[in-house]
Amino acid sequence: MERIAVYPGSFDPLTYGHLNIIERGRLIFDKIIVAVAHNISKKTFFDFEERLGILREVLNGIDKVEVDGFEGLLVEYAKRKNATVILRGIRTVSDFEYEFQMALANKMLSPSMETMFMMTDAKYSYLSSSLIKEIVHFGGSVSSMVPPLVEKKLREKFEKMQKGGII
Ligand code: PNS
Repeated sequence: MERIAVYPGSFDPLTYGHLNIIERGRLIFDKIIVAVAHNISKKTFFDFEERLGILREVLNGIDKVEVDGFEGLLVEYAKRKNATVILRGIRTVSDFEYEFQMALANKMLSPSMETMFMMTDAKYSYLSSSLIKEIVHFGGSVSSMVPPLVEKKLREKFEKMQKGGII
């Protein structure tokens, strides 16, 4: 039986921390489905299509990795994709409470679905999507935190918003 894991998230934006989890996940599972959430309650900087497009471009052609989007309940999506595991990265102790709550809720909804946590590599543990957006907003470089395409897209979007008087 193929061991399929879904690696879900908002990926707003994709960081080297996410890529590190995907790389290490590939060593454990036969397939990792990187699943971009469409209907998350938080307002995102990049819209769903933009986030999906970035992931598709960055992860294009990587063996055992599929990029997809999903709406609705994660466990239902994972079941449709024949996945048995939900993979999540944990950076710090402060991530734990939220992750624990989600894992238990998902287990309640689908007892056969396992959540597996992977500790983010120490060199990426300080990274957060909001920190990255703030640095770019104030003109700093995030080249050690995100792939070049993501940095380019962040700059383009901030410039567009500034020109449009949105920020
Ligand atoms: O990267 P994020 O924002 O921490 O990812 C959160 C995500 C998308 C994994 C979570 O919000 C989710 O699973 N959303 C789908 C809706 C759902 O299934 N909710 C119940 C899970 S407790």
